[in-house]
Amino acid sequence: MTKPIVVALNPLHPQALALATEHFDLILPSSERFKDWRRHAQGVLTISRSVAKEDVDVVREYGKLKYVAKQGTGVDMLDLKALKDAGIVVMNTPGINAQAVAELALGLIIDVARKISTTHARFYAGEEIHKADGWGGQTLFGKTIGLIGGGDTGFALARMFQSAFNGHVILYDPFLSTADLQRWERDIPPTFITRTSSFNDLLTQSDIVSLHCPLTKDTKGMISAPQFDLMKRTAVLVNVARGGVVDEVDLEVALKEGKIIGAGVDVTVVEPPSQERYEGLCKAGCVITPHYGAAPADVQEATCLAMVEHMIEALRGGSVKNR
Ligand code: MLT
Repeated sequence: MTKPIVVALNPLHPQALALATEHFDLILPSSERFKDWRRHAQGVLTISRSVAKEDVDVVREYGKLKYVAKQGTGVDMLDLKALKDAGIVVMNTPGINAQAVAELALGLIIDVARKISTTHARFYAGEEIHKADGWGGQTLFGKTIGLIGGGDTGFALARMFQSAFNGHVILYDPFLSTADLQRWERDIPPTFITRTSSFNDLLTQSDIVSLHCPLTKDTKGMISAPQFDLMKRTAVLVNVARGGVVDEVDLEVALKEGKIIGAGVDVTVVEPPSQERYEGLCKAGCVITPHYGAAPADVQEATCLAMVEHMIEALRGGSVKNR
């Protein structure tokens, strides 16, 4: 039986590569056939955040494409409408990397609240730091975290924050699914959580504001100057969701003007983030990491494998995995 032709736009993890080779006539970027994959491939495997859009955008060039499988949760880098109109189905691997991304968010919260990276940078630059000069940051025990988005990542962070710091959670998510709601009700003690439909209430009451929502036309620039004006001057902002959700120019101004105490972001409007573009933000005290929340090797292996498994199942005529 002939195997379906599938292109991998990015290198696959060894185990996933072995599985893909077994089931597909696989076109890899190193192959001579790669330049012509659009005419032949029935499936696309991708992890790219910036490359993928250009590649899958040109849907009219696709002769036989049926499925695009994205490693990870976010699919904002794909032109979903163009793909849907062309009858191409998009799949993702939600949930698998949530704990890893939430752990990075927690790391950024502790880092920014206790000023770990910025203290290290000052020390490394030869500055003397005195405990009494108001630099020491703030503690987290018993504090309130405001979560924008209650899906897999927000939930994983809430659980850790609540148990590590006896912290209170304010959750804002107008689109929370019934399954997610049941999970929150089951696993987070009701006295530790407030669900709110008021985004402004979350901003004014939270010691930490952490983003866990997709990038859509509604969430783009959701945290901009007016929102910084509402936040506590001691608040920490963390973004492990998508760069465009926070207005980066306004964030830099907010940090410089002391509207919030600090920020940690794993996602930026331009990725990978260049030192040149983000120097101002770093100097203003923002801790930046290069979208590596889902980067741990075990997580990469699991999500890559799931992406290939989803493609095998779909091309077999089985169910389609996406959310
Ligand atoms: C995701 O969308 O799941 C994360 O941003 C991880 C990634 O794309 O690498």
